[in-house]
Amino acid sequence: MEERQKVAVVTGASSGIGSETVRALVGAGYVVYGGARRMDRLNELSSETGMIPRLLDVTISDSVKRFVETLPDTVDLLVNNAGGALGLDPISEMDEEAWLSMYQSNAMGTVRMVQSIFSRLKHSGQGHVVNIGSVAAIETYVGGAGYTMAKHALRALTETLRIEWLGMPIRITEIDPGLVETEFSLVRFKGDATRAKGVYAGMTPLTAKDVADAVLWAVTRPPHVNVDSILLRPLDQARVDRIHRRGG
Ligand SMILES: NC(=O)c1ccc[n+]([C@@H]2O[C@H](COP(=O)([O-])OP(=O)(O)OC[C@H]3O[C@@H](n4cnc5c(N)ncnc54)[C@H](OP(=O)(O)O)[C@@H]3O)[C@@H](O)[C@H]2O)c1
Repeated sequence: MEERQKVAVVTGASSGIGSETVRALVGAGYVVYGGARRMDRLNELSSETGMIPRLLDVTISDSVKRFVETLPDTVDLLVNNAGGALGLDPISEMDEEAWLSMYQSNAMGTVRMVQSIFSRLKHSGQGHVVNIGSVAAIETYVGGAGYTMAKHALRALTETLRIEWLGMPIRITEIDPGLVETEFSLVRFKGDATRAKGVYAGMTPLTAKDVADAVLWAVTRPPHVNVDSILLRPLDQARVDRIHRRGG
């Protein structure tokens, strides 16, 4: 009998780590459904890779529902990558709207996706959920609380799923990268390209492909092996806020 082609879903596929993860998974033979809010970007990636592009805003329940309705009955892999940071405000100057939005995309968005795709993952008999966390899921830094609180919540979610799903054929992995040069800082600083560039000044950050490689490694282990988490940082970063910069 011909082997069924595996199905993967990647959220936040329109940029950075999500786009590279799509490339890696298509290269490994998956049929990939990629979701995000910017359809033009998804369509470009679709032309390049064959990914199936779908509109998705993980902060809106109806959008998640509509996205999931278009998926096949079986999904083998869900990569929860959609998210990011907004601003760098200390707690005393919290921007409530921005902080709630970070919780909505990074934490609640992942819960919505997991809840909606759960039956399809179970149906596959060898499901796998990969959450893109961050060093911000483990460490804290000045001005980072809005983001670190959301990513710490994501880590709690990952760990809870591992207990709740014990005995089920669904693996659960968290990938926690340090600094990766993507559009992350551009979004964080509301399009201020100079400030965004400064985040990576004088150091060598990870690339989106470095993170996609880690995702691919985790999902291609034998089915009885659960990679709980991978923490990967640039050599130039010892802690979330301890970075070695050269020159300048
Ligand atoms: N770059 C880093 O240094 C770094 C480090 C650790 C962890 N991470 C995490 O890695 C993930 C990917 O970030 P990135 O570095 O690749 O940044 P990026 O280039 O800004 O990509 C973020 C992606 O998330 C999508 N997204 C954001 N909000 C969304 C929403 N409400 N619904 C659906 N999609 C949404 C964006 O698509 P649309 O705008 O088109 O919707 C985009 O595709 C994030 O979870 C981030 O927190 C990044």
